[in-house]
Amino acid sequence: MAETPNQSRDKSSASPWFMRSALAIGLAVVFIALLNNARQSSTSHWLESYGPGTESETCQQVPKLSPTNKRVETYIRETVQSAEYQREVIKKLSGIIQIPSESYDELGPIGEDDRWDIFFQIESYLKDTYPTVFQNVKLDHANTHGLILTWQGSVSPSQAKPILLLAHQDVVPVLMENVKDWTHPPYDGHYDGEIIWGRGATDDKGYLISIIETLDLLIKSGFTPKRTVILAFGCDEEISGENCGRPISNFLHEQYGNDGIYLIMDEGSTGIQREFDRSFAMIGVAEKGYLDVGINVSSTGGHASNPPDHNAIGILSEIVVAIENNPFLGKITSKNPMFHFLECAAVYAAGSSFPMSDRRTLSKAAAQDNNISQKQLDQALGNMKYHFRTSQSMGKINGGVKINAIPETASTMVNLRLAVETSIAQVEAHYESLVKTISRKHGMVFKGFHSTCDPSVSRKICLFGVDALEPAPISPADAESYHILSGTIKNVLKPLGQDDELIVTPYLMPANTDTKFFWALTKNIYRFTPVNLVENLNRAHTTNEFIRADEFVREPLFFASLILNSDDVVD
Ligand SMILES: *[C@@H]1O[C@H](CO)[C@@H](O)[C@H](O)[C@H]1NC(C)=O
Ligand SMILES: *[C@@H]1O[C@H](CO)[C@@H](O)[C@H](O)[C@H]1NC(C)=O
Repeated sequence: MAETPNQSRDKSSASPWFMRSALAIGLAVVFIALLNNARQSSTSHWLESYGPGTESETCQQVPKLSPTNKRVETYIRETVQSAEYQREVIKKLSGIIQIPSESYDELGPIGEDDRWDIFFQIESYLKDTYPTVFQNVKLDHANTHGLILTWQGSVSPSQAKPILLLAHQDVVPVLMENVKDWTHPPYDGHYDGEIIWGRGATDDKGYLISIIETLDLLIKSGFTPKRTVILAFGCDEEISGENCGRPISNFLHEQYGNDGIYLIMDEGSTGIQREFDRSFAMIGVAEKGYLDVGINVSSTGGHASNPPDHNAIGILSEIVVAIENNPFLGKITSKNPMFHFLECAAVYAAGSSFPMSDRRTLSKAAAQDNNISQKQLDQALGNMKYHFRTSQSMGKINGGVKINAIPETASTMVNLRLAVETSIAQVEAHYESLVKTISRKHGMVFKGFHSTCDPSVSRKICLFGVDALEPAPISPADAESYHILSGTIKNVLKPLGQDDELIVTPYLMPANTDTKFFWALTKNIYRFTPVNLVENLNRAHTTNEFIRADEFVREPLFFASLILNSDDVVD
């Protein structure tokens, strides 16, 4: 059924151009055209060439990687299976959930706003709960509440770059009026024998306890690392990250310099999931970018009995409609980690769960075939649509205060998540071109991004960017650390349902984490939660957040194996 790449080139569109050029310009062009042909055919009919069981270089899976230190591995494997340990670690998670370390958008600086003081309680709790860890690590504070725990390896960090595990202490607030909607109160940390309930259970206190527990187990096992292990706990991941995320990064940067870290693990909105009827371990190797765009329209006010044809509200509405009518286009390029996820799906998913018609559509889109409509592309991508395009969502609109007065200003805010192929500058250029046209039509002064919105001009449209973040650099899938992480996943984690194999694949995070401050520290940043996200429905940020105990208690085995495996490659 699958066409081979050689047959796949669409000859009807290529030959007229090919022949004209060859006649007009000569053999050199023929040669270039042939080269182009060869290059393009590698992406056209791309997904169609794979099928279940295809012998292929595509989506190569590494073998299970088991630490050479069997004694330590066995100690940890047996410990995490013991009922006593499980009871204890669940109690530790419940306890930290009981400290409501909420971070609020409008928090003042640390040291001035006393709502930060709750983080002193988190620090004391960790010290009381993990005395062995704190006796063995060096504790540093970044801006008071950013905690950095360094477990010094026997080899210097310049010879063996440290491994960095991140988590955050803060949680998104629970609104008073929503408390009644929780089955168990959000800050009880209630354990019902199966599930641990509460704000922070998954985001991110489960991760935090898992990684510090890992250190505790490794220390108690008698293991001494060659490679330094660092844990860093932010205090404001859910807001800006400026108060702890950035100071932690600055601290580590001073210690280890550019590219001074071996790998970073952080929470992921991805973990073990089922797509196309197969189990995948999805490693977030990139994050979409972020931009909030503000649009302010100012016009002359006056009495409603003598209105202009279009006032500020009308003109803003025209802009909103233009923005929605000109969305960013979906695109499939090999730069996007999701391209490689689709390849993995094509190789490992059954034909019935990834139909040939969808493969054909996506292959054509990947070959930049313009004959594929956006609608067809979206249909083939289903719920992955926004992994392949920049999203835009109007979140706020303001204008007018009185029914009989012509409004002087109207404004809106748009939230955008940038596709990996794009940049803030490109998105800004798109908005400027749309809005400029409307501005000109109405005889308004236009002020694009990066220009000042002059208050003395009465009729104007201003664009401005707030909270901008470029798409994250993409962590390379051919790095040694990526192979170690993949091999560790294969060794420790299990596929879901009846699947015989867990397929490890790169993936894209649509959301942002504190890793945005860490790009210079390493190329190898992995966002991954070692639990089954089908069972642990992602209820972060909403009511009834929870984590399943049987999976949570096993997380330290995963992190410990990762540390051991990373230690094994130190000379
Ligand atoms: C845009 O409008 C909003 C709401 O009216 C206002 O708060 C903000 O200061 C304005 N921004 C600029 C740059 O004019
Ligand atoms: C473009 O697609 C339409 C139907 O979707 C098809 O009829 C037409 O032949 C296609 N054109 C090319 C050049 O492939």
